[in-house]
Amino acid sequence: MEIKKIGVVGAGQMGSGISEVAVSSGFEVLMRDINQEAIERGKRRIEANLDKRVQKGKISSDERVNILKNLSTTTRLEDLKECDFVIEAVIENISMKEEVFKKLDAITRQEAVLASNTSSISITRIGSFTKRPDRVVGMHFFNPVPVMKLIEIIRGLATSDETFQTTRDLSLKMGKTPLEANDFAGFVSSRLIFSFMNEAIYTLYEGVGKPEEIDAIMKMGANHPMGPLELADFVGLDTVLSVMYVLQESFGDKYRPCPLLIKYVHAGYLGVKTGRGFYTYGENPVRKLSTV
Ligand SMILES: NC(=O)c1ccc[n+]([C@@H]2O[C@H](COP(=O)([O-])OP(=O)(O)OC[C@H]3O[C@@H](n4cnc5c(N)ncnc54)[C@H](O)[C@@H]3O)[C@@H](O)[C@H]2O)c1
Repeated sequence: MEIKKIGVVGAGQMGSGISEVAVSSGFEVLMRDINQEAIERGKRRIEANLDKRVQKGKISSDERVNILKNLSTTTRLEDLKECDFVIEAVIENISMKEEVFKKLDAITRQEAVLASNTSSISITRIGSFTKRPDRVVGMHFFNPVPVMKLIEIIRGLATSDETFQTTRDLSLKMGKTPLEANDFAGFVSSRLIFSFMNEAIYTLYEGVGKPEEIDAIMKMGANHPMGPLELADFVGLDTVLSVMYVLQESFGDKYRPCPLLIKYVHAGYLGVKTGRGFYTYGENPVRKLSTV
């Protein structure tokens, strides 16, 4: 199946990153969010990243202009009706995903593939919200999307071989490395990474270490590029909590979210995106130790 036009639902950190990679790989992209403010934020992120690529000599100014010509935006989901492939990247909430997939199923052509960038929710379940579960697939990008090479592809029970192959080919055209995982909550990556972040939050909660010590110990001790609390702030603590609830529901209390994580989300301390999480962030963002 030939893909020309890609729809991206959500212009947050993942949706804008996916749009940037898709448009830079020569696809026409229509990015949708619920209001103009969210769209402008997403567009600014894409423009700033392209500016950096021009400064580093990776693309020319003309190429930057041409890339941006292929990016359009909308607040109306109905505008995605001509898209050949749609990638959903709205917040990690099953009711929200259900609403989006039901609408996309009604709007788009029957042949169009509907992919979800969910970190944890079953693709079989997302497929059940549509009348085309054979054309629903998990396409799990990593953050920051322009930098991270991996795409985890997840088949729901009904996902067809053709849909899988189309998604794999698209991932390669985007310059990524596709790897397959089976459809269990959190797949491979989120089950391991999020339980690691949650455990790090428990060590903070129980006073085993302070944020900077916990992160430094894991960076130096396990050779990780980022500490787990730093990573949680970067991912967004709301997303971390949502994923932990999905893992807990599926596999039991081994994956119980740390009470401190719940408290931070209730306080609106969601990490980098709100300027405060386990650390506080300035404009750039310069990190300072936050109090627990
Ligand atoms: N943050 C990460 O590191 C990461 C990594 C991989 C996957 N994911 C997954 O990607 C998805 C998005 O995460 P994010 O970090 O980009 O979140 P985010 O909070 O940065 O962005 C979510 C965006 O979705 C928008 N939105 C909400 N409802 C919408 C709708 N009906 N239509 C269009 N837009 C809508 C919001 O306005 C917001 O701009 C989640 O499912 C998350 O689990 C996140």
